[in-house]
Amino acid sequence: MTSKMGVIQLFICLGVILHIGPLFSSATSPGIQAVFNHTYSGNVSAGNEKLYTFTHNTSMDEAIRFQFLSEDAVPDFPILLVVKQTRSVLSYTVPYVSPDGQKYGSVSKTLCPDSSNLNASVEETIIVVVSTSSAIEVNFTLTGMFVDDFNLQSNKNITFLSDPSAPQYYQYEFPEGVDMVMVRAKSPDKACAYLSVQNAKCPILDGVSTVRYNEGFFQTMTKQAAITVTRDMFNGSDLFFVVVVVHSTNAMCDNTFKTLSPLEAAHYTGSSKQTKNVTLTVERTLDSKF
Ligand SMILES: *[C@@H]1O[C@H](CO)[C@@H](O)[C@H](O)[C@H]1NC(C)=O
Ligand SMILES: *[C@@H]1O[C@H](CO)[C@@H](O)[C@H](O)[C@H]1NC(C)=O
Ligand SMILES: *[C@@H]1O[C@H](CO)[C@@H](O)[C@H](O)[C@H]1NC(C)=O
Ligand SMILES: *[C@@H]1O[C@H](CO)[C@@H](O)[C@H](O)[C@H]1NC(C)=O
Ligand SMILES: *[C@@H]1O[C@H](CO)[C@@H](O)[C@H](O)[C@H]1NC(C)=O
Ligand SMILES: *[C@@H]1O[C@H](CO)[C@@H](O)[C@H](O)[C@H]1NC(C)=O
Ligand SMILES: *[C@@H]1O[C@H](CO)[C@@H](O)[C@H](O)[C@H]1NC(C)=O
Ligand SMILES: *[C@@H]1O[C@H](CO)[C@@H](O)[C@H](O)[C@H]1NC(C)=O
Repeated sequence: MTSKMGVIQLFICLGVILHIGPLFSSATSPGIQAVFNHTYSGNVSAGNEKLYTFTHNTSMDEAIRFQFLSEDAVPDFPILLVVKQTRSVLSYTVPYVSPDGQKYGSVSKTLCPDSSNLNASVEETIIVVVSTSSAIEVNFTLTGMFVDDFNLQSNKNITFLSDPSAPQYYQYEFPEGVDMVMVRAKSPDKACAYLSVQNAKCPILDGVSTVRYNEGFFQTMTKQAAITVTRDMFNGSDLFFVVVVVHSTNAMCDNTFKTLSPLEAAHYTGSSKQTKNVTLTVERTLDSKF
């Protein structure tokens, strides 16, 4: 039941991606030459979209994250955000409405780092197009930033916050001579989440419904989870992604798991949103050769 819904959502996502073409050719304001670490305030309405251009030199150690907030955007006339990179396009709508009908006006996503130019650092232009079909002007803020600690270090903790509209992921590279590690996640709170390890390939599957379709492995977690990762799980690749996706309800982690019917999603409750504080560690296990 849920997986069926997941597949449908995946197709809706693909549909959105396939239809963004006209966005780039339609009339757009000249655009803003944007910098990272700065919060831009703007407003959009139907026929009046905003365009931001970010430029940076690529590095395999870095990942870029966009944080977008709009308190006023409504699910029926959402803001459509399209992030265009050299080789890929990411699009999503704000507010994010979770499967159980909660509305999140704040959405954060990490762009998949382009591993196809692992060595060469090239200057890349990222274009963010903000549009809506709302006739009423809707205000928003947009911040582009680099993810702190994107490269996980062996035996070193990192702590971050995540919520259903702000999935997080990091990468880990097996050091030479290490063939097996343990990815461990701990949390002081009981919010239900998925911990997933995935092939370091784009697109990254960081949605509650898509995270299950990757070629890697996932576990449901509340206070802790651990996954053993070996090199051969990813075809001998040195790199893999560690993904944390928080659920909007704790149903997935309850023993009394019951599938939500689509009818229950019809009301946008907006109450009791979940935020999870997660500490991640990649431990070199004793079996590792040194
Ligand atoms: C953004 O801010 C972080 C610290 O908050 C800093 O480490 C980083 O260098 C800044 N990046 C740019 C491009 O200014
Ligand atoms: C919308 O943004 C424009 C600039 O982009 C600004 O001049 C205008 O005052 C804003 N409107 C509102 C209602 O904030
Ligand atoms: C990228 O690197 C080149 C050469 O090192 C430099 O001239 C340019 O300013 C850099 N671009 C950015 C956005 O940092
Ligand atoms: C990256 O550079 C290193 C040495 O600088 C080289 O050994 C390696 O083959 C390069 N990798 C790719 C994918 O070009
Ligand atoms: C937009 O305007 C509303 C009031 O109309 C305000 O509460 C909100 O903070 C503003 N900014 C964003 C990003 O929604
Ligand atoms: C990492 O966090 C765990 C608990 O989450 C703690 O037991 C451990 O001591 C921490 N390790 C370091 C090196 O801080
Ligand atoms: C695994 O590696 C082999 C040889 O390196 C390659 O032919 C195959 O396509 C790879 N499979 C995947 C799923 O990447
Ligand atoms: C997350 O939890 C750790 C302890 O596990 C705490 O030190 C840290 O302040 C918390 N972070 C936030 C943002 O609540």
